[in-house]
Amino acid sequence: MYLTKEEERILDGELGNIKAKAMRILATLGDIFNADKLIPIQSTQISGISYKTIGDAGMNFLKDWSDASVVVESRMNPAGMDLENWKQMGVPKEFAKKQLRIVNALTSMGVKKSCTCAPYEAGLVPERGTHIAWSESSAVSFANSVLGAMTNREGGPSALSASLIGKTPNYGYHLVENRLGEIKFKVNFDLNDLDFSLLGYHIGKIAQNRIPVIEGIKKANREQLKSLGAGAAASGGVGMFMVKHITSEYSERDNIEVLNVHQSDLENIVNQFANCSSYDVIAFGCPHSSFKEIKQIIDNVKTTKEIWICTAREIKERALKELKLIPKNIKILADTCMVVAPVKEIGIDCIATNSTKCAHYSQNLSRIKTLLKSKEDLLNET
Ligand code: F3S
Repeated sequence: MYLTKEEERILDGELGNIKAKAMRILATLGDIFNADKLIPIQSTQISGISYKTIGDAGMNFLKDWSDASVVVESRMNPAGMDLENWKQMGVPKEFAKKQLRIVNALTSMGVKKSCTCAPYEAGLVPERGTHIAWSESSAVSFANSVLGAMTNREGGPSALSASLIGKTPNYGYHLVENRLGEIKFKVNFDLNDLDFSLLGYHIGKIAQNRIPVIEGIKKANREQLKSLGAGAAASGGVGMFMVKHITSEYSERDNIEVLNVHQSDLENIVNQFANCSSYDVIAFGCPHSSFKEIKQIIDNVKTTKEIWICTAREIKERALKELKLIPKNIKILADTCMVVAPVKEIGIDCIATNSTKCAHYSQNLSRIKTLLKSKEDLLNET
């Protein structure tokens, strides 16, 4: 990959050892993926924040890098706990200590302490056609597919490197010619809310890292597209999808494979994730809830079972200010989520959710049981 004179000087250490390492990561990635050059980016979103997922090795890596400063707006993915209310969550003290070290290392680099997988709900909305370097899979999917921004699915270190340099290698979804549907799914039935998450999960398993195009969805709101993209990103490597007549980008390669989706495909996923009958908590907010989603839950809740709503701190603060009557069984958790928090240590054995992504990682990462139901059913549980 071509580097400008200035980029070569950074690689040679002109701006210090850490920026040289960051440039080395970007240059190596560019070489691997045949990028022609580095391009400027508007923002980054960095994954690998939770101590549960990165452990001591990740914590020490970030500590070593903490003297360098970011040069573009940079945000964190969810941490392993609500940074202010971790004691009420039941998070062990030792975990909390290490989690705070991770967040402090990033904050000292200039990364904003807005720990969310949905930064677009918390004021960071990239403009259509702009280049960004985001890493959380559902955020990448939403940015490419719904917002029309351009990002690859970065790893934590490459997103952090992009933060420090302000650039990313020009390949993959940064190139218009790569933003074309590669496999088509036809849906011939109406979808309810949960179906969007199920459909995404089904499609992701088959599409893997190809761009799926979907035909037959009559209407879909922002929240439903968010669920669809998160499901597809969890079961496959889908970083972008297109829905005919709904997403602004819709174009496909010639002669692509076409598959019909059946209602039974979606029912099979519900069964796959039904492995407990009684659960400890209902979890909403995977991906993180918007203010509108939180209000809708609070306005419609009938159940008295414990509910967690995961969201960005900015949204939690707005909810606490504007939504006066929050029932006692609802906990709004900021900075974290039900997947990257140490749920097992907190004593959770089974989680009920309306998100296939939450169910997928609860089983595969947290090793707890799951139950998948629609939001409406969960809000009316007796
Ligand atoms: Fe976000 Fe956690 Fe789900 S990071 S997408 S709420 S697994």
